[in-house]
Amino acid sequence: MAHPLVDDAMARLRDQATPCEEFRALARRVSVLLIAEATRDLPTAESFVETPLERAPARRLAARVVAVPVLRAGLGMLDAFLELVPSAEVGYFGLERNETTAVARRYYEKVPKDLQSATTFLLDPMLATGGSAALAIDGLRGLGARQVRLLCIVAAPEGVALLERQAPDATIHAAALDRGLNDKKYILPGLGDFGDRLFKT
Ligand code: PRP
Ligand code: URA
Repeated sequence: MAHPLVDDAMARLRDQATPCEEFRALARRVSVLLIAEATRDLPTAESFVETPLERAPARRLAARVVAVPVLRAGLGMLDAFLELVPSAEVGYFGLERNETTAVARRYYEKVPKDLQSATTFLLDPMLATGGSAALAIDGLRGLGARQVRLLCIVAAPEGVALLERQAPDATIHAAALDRGLNDKKYILPGLGDFGDRLFKT
């Protein structure tokens, strides 16, 4: 995403010397910018508002919005989402990559019903192999979701390519597209383990 404020925040998010407290604030800041961009085309409906001086035309959000953070790291984007879309419904997917194989497994799921009528935003800051996002999107599809938008802070080309093959209808919004993966399937240059840096583990 081309934006000077995203570039500035990404520089400090990537820095291994950035302490946890600042990392959290930066993750939230990048998320706000990303969410503003990814919600740009949501529908609004004409309305009116009484200002202190007169009745004025207004537009209000006219979309059912569901946010689904992927546990754990996606929680770092949820506050930003609810700040911008306070009416959003929230579901959760718990996914964890196996440390040896990097293959994701699902350990928890609680998502609002009737996703057919919603625009669903999947929040996961890291798109590495794409296995986690593909699993989550598949799960959301199984629950009826039609429009899925994945919001991530750092994406690797490998993950983008996997989703283009396995979930071509999903839209990807990424703050940064990095070079690739190392042999442990971590993103390069990346920012390390997002969940560990967010939760001090
Ligand atoms: C991280 C990250 C994504 C996933 C991305 O989660 O938050 O969910 O890895 O990797 P992938 O694209 O190769 O699937 P992790 O499994 O480390 O769990 P955590 O959020 O609990 O730390
Ligand atoms: N998950 C992370 O937190 N970081 C990576 O680089 C890859 C997966």
